[in-house]
Amino acid sequence: MNIYKRNFLKSIVAISVLAITGIHSNLAYSSSDSPMKLGFLVKQPEEPWFQTEWRFADKAAQDLGGVEIIKIAAPDGEKTLNAIDNLAASGAKGFVICTPDPKLGPAIIAKARSYDLKVFTVDDQFLNAAGEPMTNVPLIMMAATEIGQRQGTELYKEMQKRGWEIKDTAVLAITADELDTARRRTEGSIESLIQNGFPTEKIYKSPTKSNDIPGALDAANSMLVQHPEVKNWLIVGMNDNTVLGGVRATEGQGFKAENVVGIGINGVDAINELSKSKPTGFYGSLMPSPDLHGYQSVEMLYRWIKEGVEPPKYTAIGEAVLLTRDNFREELAKKGL
Ligand code: GLA
Repeated sequence: MNIYKRNFLKSIVAISVLAITGIHSNLAYSSSDSPMKLGFLVKQPEEPWFQTEWRFADKAAQDLGGVEIIKIAAPDGEKTLNAIDNLAASGAKGFVICTPDPKLGPAIIAKARSYDLKVFTVDDQFLNAAGEPMTNVPLIMMAATEIGQRQGTELYKEMQKRGWEIKDTAVLAITADELDTARRRTEGSIESLIQNGFPTEKIYKSPTKSNDIPGALDAANSMLVQHPEVKNWLIVGMNDNTVLGGVRATEGQGFKAENVVGIGINGVDAINELSKSKPTGFYGSLMPSPDLHGYQSVEMLYRWIKEGVEPPKYTAIGEAVLLTRDNFREELAKKGL
């Protein structure tokens, strides 16, 4: 036998040994005294928002005892569906997910069902083939419209505090209407600005191509150049990164911090910005409760699997706190963040 054949045979033996030990460990995991494995898939693991959900998912697992969280980055459909295969292979019983695309809902559910895995959604609701929300899949999310309304109210208050005149001021609303929670937040914000008396015709909407800083920066730049007459800008967006992109665009076009007010949503994604030595146009961020999203989703999924307790189909987490440069350290500490 030549050396290549021998090496080839050796690798086959090695692979079979691996496969057998793999099967063994799967059997071991399914026995009753080994930890219950639960997946936690998030679309944007680079956002502190999702890292916070992961952290509190682990905390729930620790408090419940006998639970292990498998954290997986799921930035696209292929990675998401592969992750479900891998979870099933490792003996998991279910998973929590913030999907990279709500339209993947039916495919995710079909695959999960084929392995008898339970699915719990966080943040972004699944859509069915007709584009309607899949209200039968348990969901925990922020109260989107309410938080948006609060953003609008806080922007208006800050505008008044600075004594800006409406004639010099406009709203730049960076939108992401394909994502329902984003649409509800920005619509809520615009609605409350109008209710407070801001003129509708001075609210300029610009859609972003991607939900990150570069996408929002592009969307903002293209709107800013169309309105050289505006002296002061209020910035609306569905989360911190969107608003940060807007603020960066104003800086790039020569606006000073005192002529810009952006208020984000998420809070935990604004820590770096609020820690800067000098104020920027990013005035603050509304922080709901990523800790509760992470903790409660795991707790409910666990009880569903272990005790057959069906989770509520919809849990909305309200009550956001406004983080600013003055209070953010204290407010984060209050929540143990
Ligand atoms: C969406 C956004 C995230 C975060 C969550 C919170 O998924 O993309 O940044 O705001 O909602 O629900």
